Amino acid sequence: MLTILTAIFISLFVMFYFFKTSKEMPKNWYEWKTEFRFQYVGAVGLVHDLIYASRDKVALYPQNDKVAVITGGNRGIGLKIIEKLLACEMTVVMGCRDPKAGEKAVSQLVNLSKTKGKFVCEALDVGELSSVLAFTKFVKENYKKVDILINNAGIMFAPLHKTSEGFESHFAVNYLGHFFLTHLLMPQLKAAGSKGRSARVVNVSSVVNLIGRINYKDINGDKYYYPATAYNQSKLAQILATRHLNKMLREQNANVEIFAVHPGVVDTDLFEYSATTSVPLLKKLIFKTPERGSRTIVYAAIDPSLEGKGGSYLSNGGKSPFHPDAKNPEKCEKLFKFTCDLLKIKEFGNDKI
Ligand SMILES: NC(=O)c1ccc[n+]([C@@H]2O[C@H](COP(=O)([O-])OP(=O)(O)OC[C@H]3O[C@@H](n4cnc5c(N)ncnc54)[C@H](OP(=O)(O)O)[C@@H]3O)[C@@H](O)[C@H]2O)c1
Repeated sequence: MLTILTAIFISLFVMFYFFKTSKEMPKNWYEWKTEFRFQYVGAVGLVHDLIYASRDKVALYPQNDKVAVITGGNRGIGLKIIEKLLACEMTVVMGCRDPKAGEKAVSQLVNLSKTKGKFVCEALDVGELSSVLAFTKFVKENYKKVDILINNAGIMFAPLHKTSEGFESHFAVNYLGHFFLTHLLMPQLKAAGSKGRSARVVNVSSVVNLIGRINYKDINGDKYYYPATAYNQSKLAQILATRHLNKMLREQNANVEIFAVHPGVVDTDLFEYSATTSVPLLKKLIFKTPERGSRTIVYAAIDPSLEGKGGSYLSNGGKSPFHPDAKNPEKCEKLFKFTCDLLKIKEFGNDKI
C-alpha cells in the first residue's frame, strides 16, 4: 500500500514539476495554490480533449464572398485557422507584428498562387492601441464589410511588462486590444451580417477562464504580479465581454454574433515561459496538434448550425462549462463598462474616430 501511495505521490510531483506555469518553483502559498488550480483545469482540459476528440471537427465549404480578419496567425493555431479559411475561398486579412514573416509562414503552408482564397497581411501589434487603430483604418479603407473577426493573438505566462499605454501585457494583448478592435470594426461587421447569416466574432479564450478573477483593484498587477493570474484574468475577461456584447447586439437586432472558444490544450510556442518546454516529446504526445486546435475556432466562425447561438462558449465542437460569473449579466456588464471607460469609448461600435 505504502509503495502504491509513494508511486502516486512521485508521479503527481513529476507531473506538477514539468507542467507548472513557470520554470521556477512557486514562492509562496498563493503561487502554490494558483499552480494547483491551473494544473487541475489543465488536466480536466486534456481529458475533455480526449473524450470529445470525435466531436472536434469542422466542415469547410466555399464562401468566396466573405472577408475574414484574424489577429496573430503567423504561427501556432492561427496559421492553421488561416489555412482553413483560405480553403473556404475567403479573403483573409491577417494582422501580425511582422507582416513579411507572416506572409512567408502562410505561403509555406498554402500555395497562394493557386488557392481560390485571397490573403492579405498587415502590421498589427494588438497590445498597442495606436497600432490597432492603424490596422482598423487599413481594413476600413479596403473592405466595406467584415464577415468574420477572429481574435486569436495571445501571450501566456509572460514576465511583467507594460504596454506604452501602461496596461499589463496579458490584459492588453489577450483582451483590451481585441475589445478595441471589435469596437472599431463593428460597423463593418454589422454591414456584413444579414438575417440567417450573421457576421461572427470569435474570441479565442481558454479553459482557464474557470479559475480567472477580475481584479478591479489591481487590473494591471501593479501591487502583485503572478503571470498565471494575469493570463487567467485576461481569458475570463474575454468570456464576460463575449456574453455582454452578444446580449447587447441581440437587443439591437444586429446580425452579429459573438462566440468564445477554448481551442484545447495545444502544442504551440504559447508555453515558452512554462516548465513544459523541457518535455517537448510529452507535450507532442498528449497535447492537440495546432490543426486540431484550429477546428472549433473555425467551426464557431462558419458553421451554419450555430446561427442564433451567439454568446456560447465552445470547446471540442460543443458547448462547454464556463466561469459562473459569466452567467451573471450584471458582472458581464460591469467589466464591459469598465473596459469602455478605460478605452474612452462613449458608445460601443459607434464612436467617430
Ligand atoms: N496553445 C494552447 O494550448 C491554448 C490553449 C487555450 C487557449 N489558447 C489561445 O489560443 C490563441 C493562439 O495561441 P497559440 O497556441 O497559437 O500560441 P502561439 O503559437 O504562441 O501564437 C500566438 C500568436 O499570437 C501572436 N501575438 C502575440 N502577441 C501579439 C501582439 N502583441 N500583437 C499581434 N500578435 C501577437 C503571435 O505573433 P508573434 O509571432 O508576433 O509573437 C502568434 O501569431 C491564444 O489566444 C491563446 O491564449 C491556446
